[in-house]
Amino acid sequence: MSRGLGQSAADRADEAAQVDDLIGIGFGPANLALAIAIDEHNRTGPAQALQVRFLEQQERFGWHRGMLLEGATMQVSFLKDLVTMRDPRSRYTFLTYLQERGRLADFINQKSFYPTRLEFHDYLEWCAAQLTHQAGYGRRVVAVHPVERDGRVALVDVVSESVTDPADRRTHRARNVVVGTGLKPRLPAGVEAGERVWHTRDLLFRAPRLTDRPHRRFTVVGAGQSAAEAVEYLYRTFPDAEICAVVGRYGYSPADDSPFANRIFDPSAVDEFFGAPDEAKRTLLGQHANTNYAVVDGDLIEQLYRTVYQEKVAGTERLRILNASRLTGVEPGEDGARALVRSLTTGEELVLESDAVVLATGYDHVDPRELLGELAAACVTDAAGRLRVERDHQLLTADHIDVGVYLQGGTEHTHGITSSLLSTLAVRAGEICDSLLLRLTGDELRLDEAAGLAAN
Ligand code: FDA
Repeated sequence: MSRGLGQSAADRADEAAQVDDLIGIGFGPANLALAIAIDEHNRTGPAQALQVRFLEQQERFGWHRGMLLEGATMQVSFLKDLVTMRDPRSRYTFLTYLQERGRLADFINQKSFYPTRLEFHDYLEWCAAQLTHQAGYGRRVVAVHPVERDGRVALVDVVSESVTDPADRRTHRARNVVVGTGLKPRLPAGVEAGERVWHTRDLLFRAPRLTDRPHRRFTVVGAGQSAAEAVEYLYRTFPDAEICAVVGRYGYSPADDSPFANRIFDPSAVDEFFGAPDEAKRTLLGQHANTNYAVVDGDLIEQLYRTVYQEKVAGTERLRILNASRLTGVEPGEDGARALVRSLTTGEELVLESDAVVLATGYDHVDPRELLGELAAACVTDAAGRLRVERDHQLLTADHIDVGVYLQGGTEHTHGITSSLLSTLAVRAGEICDSLLLRLTGDELRLDEAAGLAAN
């Protein structure tokens, strides 16, 4: 098995003009953090500068734009920005961003570690704007092909198409790839998204279009943060509509963000998790699921509860929490959708005629093998069929693969709960950058050795 030492140094010298050291697939926060780490490295060590390119299907930088709800706050401290945990002196810190925007003192006076998502999005855009030279927007990666020579694979061709003109296909060659394509929306079995059936991912692209009054009802399915935020947003935005929240639990449960539990998001926790036996990994993921999955920020729970109670006092009920209930089906119609809901306690069936049904049903990992094509067969898996990933976030591949394939996300089974979150992005970016440099140095040492042999 090989973790890939890169192609031969002589080839590398020949092809340096047209071969990138790294191509990143996706340019969300994870690959943006990596772009920054590489940019900072390139500035300090131009002799070993890495030539990199990130391909992003969106036409401009965007971080979950469909959920940039007014007032919604970050679930992590601003200190877990794209760089601070790796290098607090970086020019890409959230504090430098605030200073440049002229809001440093104002932010401090808020006495909060949690900026709004809108503000954090602006920070991310501010970072991305400084790295446009590395980014190719509006390009969806559709395939990765291994380039084989003498039985070895030292390069890959990354094929992308323009999102506005799929006939515009381009191929870029690279020594390494990093897959940072994020998660995909999960829908309940048998339910399809459509005009009036939305995953929360699309909330702000869809809801503001429903301007025609009167509104009847919106039904929101789910028990997590996005569900609670969607309920709050719809309640506030459509004052003539009833909002029905279908929650499988008895009610919304709070996220555990207490200090000891929060350590599960520390960079050192990745080390510990990585080295732990499988059984311990499973236990830890189960024990700490309530830091992230199907849980809601405590303040938002209080706010929604207060609203329900105040409506009770007033004798009106516009916000209905249908707890211990399950969605059993969705029937889309001309000007709305019907949500079919069953109570888990009484078995009662409800039909909720809705202007729209909003599915806050979470996200799934995308198996990177879908993109890796023939390379997928060379990926080493464990007994459960999961990809084996090294500590430096590189896929373990068959011996003849010299290309480095890195993963940003989809590594919860090896690197723990932070795999698809922001908490450790800064540190992880540094680790991947260091690993790339190690491969590059290995190549150059071999080039020197080859030159030495030739001279003898
Ligand atoms: P992300 O999904 O952000 O980016 C992947 C990028 O790849 C996208 O831009 C996509 O367009 C692109 N892409 C996909 N396939 C492609 C292809 N084939 N070709 C080219 N481009 C492609 N976490 C946290 O720690 N704190 C928080 O406060 C929040 N808040 C939060 C709010 C909401 C509403 C959501 C949905 C999620 C969060 N998260 C979060 C979790 C979230 O996963 C995390 O914040 C980052 O989005 C992870 O960044 P990535 O770059 O890994 O994925």
